[in-house]
Amino acid sequence: MGYKYHCLNPISEVGIQNFTEEYVPSSAEKADAILVRSAAMHDMEFGKELKAIARAGAGVNNIPLDRCAEEGIVVFNTPGANANGVKELVIAGMLLASRDIIGGINWVQENEEDGNIAKDAEKAKKAFAGCELEGKKLGVIGLGAIGVLVANAATNLGMDVYGFDPYVSVDSAWRLSRSIRHAKTVDEIYRDCDYISIHVPAMESTKGMMDKNAIDLMKKDVVVLNFARNVLVDEEAMVDALIGGKVKHYVTDFPTPEIAGVKGAIVIPHLGASTEESEDNCAKMAVKEIRNFLEHGNIRHSVNYPDCDMGYRGENTRIVLLHHNVPNMIGQFTRILAKDNMNIADMTNKSKGGYAYTMIDIDSEVPDGVADDLRAVSHVLRVRVIR
Ligand SMILES: NC(=O)c1ccc[n+]([C@@H]2O[C@H](COP(=O)([O-])OP(=O)(O)OC[C@H]3O[C@@H](n4cnc5c(N)ncnc54)[C@H](O)[C@@H]3O)[C@@H](O)[C@H]2O)c1
Repeated sequence: MGYKYHCLNPISEVGIQNFTEEYVPSSAEKADAILVRSAAMHDMEFGKELKAIARAGAGVNNIPLDRCAEEGIVVFNTPGANANGVKELVIAGMLLASRDIIGGINWVQENEEDGNIAKDAEKAKKAFAGCELEGKKLGVIGLGAIGVLVANAATNLGMDVYGFDPYVSVDSAWRLSRSIRHAKTVDEIYRDCDYISIHVPAMESTKGMMDKNAIDLMKKDVVVLNFARNVLVDEEAMVDALIGGKVKHYVTDFPTPEIAGVKGAIVIPHLGASTEESEDNCAKMAVKEIRNFLEHGNIRHSVNYPDCDMGYRGENTRIVLLHHNVPNMIGQFTRILAKDNMNIADMTNKSKGGYAYTMIDIDSEVPDGVADDLRAVSHVLRVRVIR
């Protein structure tokens, strides 16, 4: 059985190549899966074959998630696929804040006509001297996909790294270098570190978390790095701290009229994930998610349905059902299967908000008509029988 896919935006060829010959490009109306970057999908009507939308990137506000859930379309994103790109820019940010590389380069440009530039540089350079990262204390707030990479890379640069994340995942904990110290409170990071890098998501609980009180706790001449989201930091307090000389540098990937041009602010135009590799990684991950879902029914990194994974399908027939998260669904499914004497080899059910997903492996024949019987159950949104 073949599958059709459609790319609403240009998607890296490196990812598309991971589709097998079973997959052919098609129009959006006929596609089983759509790949998208930033195209607006809110006003789109979806074809009846559409089963999955994969956003090559993290943000999904261009996609109508609730409508998709209701139409039995699973929406995926690619969290962490650009983590390495962001990590490398954070390291660059620490270096830019430690040595006056920008001031030095500007000096060379201003003196490009100087025939004696080599000699004059030797005199001028003391104005641009700085310090090294080795031996300095770095505090990383948020040890997810990006925070872990930043912490590990900084350890390899000889920094003394402290991490704070009260909700750290098992996966992140496994990936974290053993030499990273565990801060029990975020205040420990604020109080003790020379460099502080924030890598938490923007949520109600984190917005403005780095406020005046937090900055007051920090050491004089601290360097703060924000490659996460600008709303995490109280910008007014940060501007005051830069002007007052408490914070030496605020390195941010988020230009705003308030911060651009302030003394000590190193402002980058949101370049964290702007690398070829990040785009390739997002595309590879999006294609992998689509294939895993269409061929095996597994859901990994969905934003509107629960993640649910029964591994490789093997010889079994797999029945997957998208439905509302209401009581007594599984009982109704198993009664239908029992009626036709089908043997369930394995089964799982997961829910997320108002929606749920059930996967059932059958190791005997699945008669025609079973899918229609399952579809007729109230609150079922989509049924697929994967053979
Ligand atoms: N600059 C860019 O271009 C760019 C690119 C990608 C992601 N980002 C941003 O980087 C940030 C991190 O992304 P990620 O992919 O590593 O996310 P992630 O979800 O993998 O990790 C976030 C971590 O923050 C932790 N956390 C949540 N609340 C916390 C709190 N109050 N204190 C401490 N830790 C807390 C979570 O437990 C999690 O481990 C996000 O804000 C994301 O939007 C920026």
